[in-house]
Amino acid sequence: MTGLPSPDPLKFAFTAKTSAHASRGGARPLALDDKDWQAWWQTATEAEERALYIHVPFCKKRCSFCNFFENGANPARMSRYMAALCDNLQQAAKTPFALSAPFSAVYVGGGTPTDMAVDDLARLAETIQGFPLTQDAELTLEGRLNGFDEPKWHTALAGGFNRFSFGVQSFDTQVRQQAARIDDRARLLERLAELTRYDEAVIVADLIFGLPDQDDAIWRQDIADVMASGVHGVDLYQLIAMAGTHLDRAESKGKPGWAADSQQRASMYAYGAHTLEQGGWQRLSCSHWRRSETEQSRYNQMAKRGAEILPFGAGAGGNVHGHGLMYGRDLAPWHQALADGRRAPGMVMGRNPNAAMDALLRGALDTGRLSLALLPDPLRGQLLPLFQVWQQYGLAALTAEWLELTLAGRFWSVNLQAGLFEYLQLNPLAGAGERGPHANAAAVRPVEIVGHSVTGLRR
Ligand SMILES: C[S@@+](CC[C@H](N)C(=O)[O-])C[C@H]1O[C@@H](n2cnc3c(N)ncnc32)[C@H](O)[C@@H]1O
Ligand code: SF4
Repeated sequence: MTGLPSPDPLKFAFTAKTSAHASRGGARPLALDDKDWQAWWQTATEAEERALYIHVPFCKKRCSFCNFFENGANPARMSRYMAALCDNLQQAAKTPFALSAPFSAVYVGGGTPTDMAVDDLARLAETIQGFPLTQDAELTLEGRLNGFDEPKWHTALAGGFNRFSFGVQSFDTQVRQQAARIDDRARLLERLAELTRYDEAVIVADLIFGLPDQDDAIWRQDIADVMASGVHGVDLYQLIAMAGTHLDRAESKGKPGWAADSQQRASMYAYGAHTLEQGGWQRLSCSHWRRSETEQSRYNQMAKRGAEILPFGAGAGGNVHGHGLMYGRDLAPWHQALADGRRAPGMVMGRNPNAAMDALLRGALDTGRLSLALLPDPLRGQLLPLFQVWQQYGLAALTAEWLELTLAGRFWSVNLQAGLFEYLQLNPLAGAGERGPHANAAAVRPVEIVGHSVTGLRR
């Protein structure tokens, strides 16, 4: 919860970052029948802000470090999926629920949505325009540069996409080859220069630090390359060891190759953060920087603030009428359900009594700053001892109004979020709606939606 005392908290406050996100339970699975589900789509939203998340679970190739890979991007299979997805979106767009308030962000994520055929992309863009969107809505298409050719680029722009998030990971050709990435450094830089030349849309690149054979010199070059590439925003992600990846299997066989350890990764993060900020890039969160105000990263911020997010597609997750909603990943039952006019298999959670406060805390720690004025009185008093230890350990600075994470605190932000939620669970008085130390134990067990077989959920 507190981290460890160390004269060098950036490197030693925790031993490792073990996950990409932190949360505490707080909700129990809900048995929602078809009648209730239909009623949801007839009921106006109460949310103040909302977004669409559309999942495209296909990739051309499995990268060594990633477990987001779900299905190979076979063109016929992908087009069949896109047709069913667009039908599903079209029907949803006409419902009173969808029409009751505008959407200010749409995120088409994956997998690799940029692998879809150009005609499918055109239809998807047109279908999205069938939803009520705010005038300045952020429409993001995620994917990679490989295969994202001129016809796709122009089709996406004409269809209203105004933000593109590309996984670069590293520019270094050798590191890329080892990670099973397709293009080389020269090709990536050439394509990014083409896509950013006229500032027609916001372009964001993801970089990972800690990949096999990505040493300090290569990381410095990665930062220099991304800053010179023309992109408007960049994410710096620490490599997380994910079970089931090629990298994980190589490690368990004892032949992982050289990779930066946790302390070296801390230095890589510090180098990246300092260099971007000295170069005039603005930090929007602990892992995201922008060089231009056109980059808002609106969807990501909304998701962390707990906004309403309508999910679509096999494997998509979101938050509807205050309920967590996650569709199963298996394609066959997903197709079958939609063809039968039934709801896709998945899991629905009851309303989380702590949702608003958790979202506030998570969102604030993700940006690196928490306004203490936003905490109700008993909670504030309960959290102060934890914040004081973070300050003592060099992870945060505390004033009467703010908790501000230090560079070390930002590097360990997800660990701090996890620590804070653990602290709240162990302190029943600490949060409004708390029900005791183990009140949420049952909430982590996925349960099927009543009346539907769930075959796709990972248990
Ligand atoms: C859902 S993936 C989609 C990326 C896109 N398909 C591509 O190939 O670049 C989004 C991002 O997650 C990040 N990511 C994937 N695996 C990761 C891992 N093991 N550790 C840290 N970040 C990871 C990558 O930076 C990736 O760009
Ligand atoms: S990094 Fe992208 S292309 Fe590679 S496996 Fe993950 S989602 Fe698929």
